[in-house]
Amino acid sequence: MIPPLRRVRQSVGAAGPALAGVIAVAAASAQPTVYTEGVVAADHALASRAGAEMLARGGSAVDAAIATSLTLSVVRPMSCGIGGGGFMLIYDPSRPEGERAVALDYRESAPAAVGTDFFRTLDDPDASRFTGAAAGVPGTVAGLAEAHRRFGALPWADLFGPAIRAAEDGFAVDESYMRSAREAIRWYEADPSRKDRFGFVWRRLLRDGAVAEGDVIRNPEQARALRLIARGGHDAFYTGEIAREIVRAAQDAGGVITAEDLAGYTPRAVRPLEGEFLGRRVLTMPLPSSGGVALIQTLGALERYAARRDATLAQWGPRSPDYLHALTEAFKHAFADRAALLGDTPEARAAAARLISPDALDSIAARIDPDTTQPRGGYGAGLAASPPPDDAGTSHLSVVDGRGMAVACTETINLTFGSRVAVEPFGFCLNNEMDDFTTAPGAVNAFGLRQSDANLPAPGKRPLSSMTPTIALDRAGRVELVAGAAGGPRIITGTAQAVLNVLAFGMSADRAVSAPRIHHQFFPPVLAVEPGLIEPPAPAADAGPAEVMRMVRAVEDGRRIKEALETRGHRLGRIESVGVVQIVRRSGDGFQAASDPRRGGSPAGVRAGRVEADPRIER
Ligand code: DON
Repeated sequence: MIPPLRRVRQSVGAAGPALAGVIAVAAASAQPTVYTEGVVAADHALASRAGAEMLARGGSAVDAAIATSLTLSVVRPMSCGIGGGGFMLIYDPSRPEGERAVALDYRESAPAAVGTDFFRTLDDPDASRFTGAAAGVPGTVAGLAEAHRRFGALPWADLFGPAIRAAEDGFAVDESYMRSAREAIRWYEADPSRKDRFGFVWRRLLRDGAVAEGDVIRNPEQARALRLIARGGHDAFYTGEIAREIVRAAQDAGGVITAEDLAGYTPRAVRPLEGEFLGRRVLTMPLPSSGGVALIQTLGALERYAARRDATLAQWGPRSPDYLHALTEAFKHAFADRAALLGDTPEARAAAARLISPDALDSIAARIDPDTTQPRGGYGAGLAASPPPDDAGTSHLSVVDGRGMAVACTETINLTFGSRVAVEPFGFCLNNEMDDFTTAPGAVNAFGLRQSDANLPAPGKRPLSSMTPTIALDRAGRVELVAGAAGGPRIITGTAQAVLNVLAFGMSADRAVSAPRIHHQFFPPVLAVEPGLIEPPAPAADAGPAEVMRMVRAVEDGRRIKEALETRGHRLGRIESVGVVQIVRRSGDGFQAASDPRRGGSPAGVRAGRVEADPRIER
């Protein structure tokens, strides 16, 4: 095994020396690290560290989140960035009650030229995925600027340092980058004309198909964009040189974004959706994300269902068939409602309020049969879909600062490298978020989600999302948990399970994100299970007798779970990964943090005024 310190240096790549001065690497230990002055969990070590650097300089959780987001724009160009959008949930305990929680919606919006029939008139099956028409008006820069205006403590320009360094000095390609690269290279090879049409991603980010782990990727073009935005703020992106190049890139690739669309983009600041779970207040994202509705439905239904059976979730445990069955059934109800009712409209908002009402949660709980699944109609409208792709087009970051302010932020360009249409002079990809709309009645999106007319495109409308940035407050009103995920619809199921693992089962941050997960999105009618739950990994060749015995027991346990679920009527399938989750959870007066090993980032926090990376997560 590579010693932790070397692993940390490796993932820092060429930008490492610039940061080395502020970094002290915590010694590996069996005990979770508890950060007392703030911590950031992102899915890339450099991004977490960028945020922690701001915390160490006295920045707020929002400053840290912005620096982290900007760095992710550079080092995770397949996932998120200034060509995309996102949601940021902020909780600031120092403000008066009623002003403490804000949900910033900086989701991409449909350009003015996009009406209900837009994609049907284009006669191109790729139109909503890999053309300029796939791109919504990007929201990330506007969202970050608004977050800073409301909650920033450090000067705006100071937040750009780590991202600009990563873009100019370069960052090392890691295993997670390579997974996305391999997927994208296959797509280019399937139609080599794409190598010209989507040349920036092919040449620069995939190195003409020859990119390899350890390569250093530099992006001076994006560094230039970041410098302009550092100086000029929101307007530097939405008017002027960058805006002109966005319009040119989108329109040259068949899109319709105009200068007016960009100049008119505004983030929305709304009240978070609120639910209750085991005595905690759960704050999460309202529409146009379905994630918050589905999370509150799932948690609320599970708590009530357990109570109806005179039990608690903790008594059942995270690997019990009773729990896994009920969780699956709750997911199916939530996804059925998502498909039928949700979108960025006033009617859908009214429906969302009904769906999370106590009566509706009681009703789901009452409809879960402990012994069996329901016929298809028992969950809502019958819909068919294809399985979701393996995909990396989103990134979630969780932050707390030393004063107790928390940020849960999920950002995306939708699919891996978004639309693959790049704004080449500024080194970033445009999103393909338009595919999250109902592009034609009955059509499924890239994640196999079929949706209703409530989610048809319209000028200025924002496509329905699954992103689920979430903050839970304990009984004393303190931040207890910050969570969220990447992974399309698996964002909802992945986030819900991380929340349950902490709040219902009391797991440490590491265990809560690494424990195997399940996924059901109603259709396809398959309960997808990660390998570790019912098929444990084979023991190492040099495993001792104790380890072999442990494995034998794990195999038996897996078989027991499988049989119990199949007896209840679930059709089991296999899935490599149910989302990529980043959490921060309270531990006494400090916080533990975990970045999901499924993507291999690591958290970074502050103790005694110094930035510390957690080497235990660097495996
Ligand atoms: O907003 C959504 O729900 C999707 N655009 C998210 C896409 C995603 O998470 C890609 N996978 N990692």
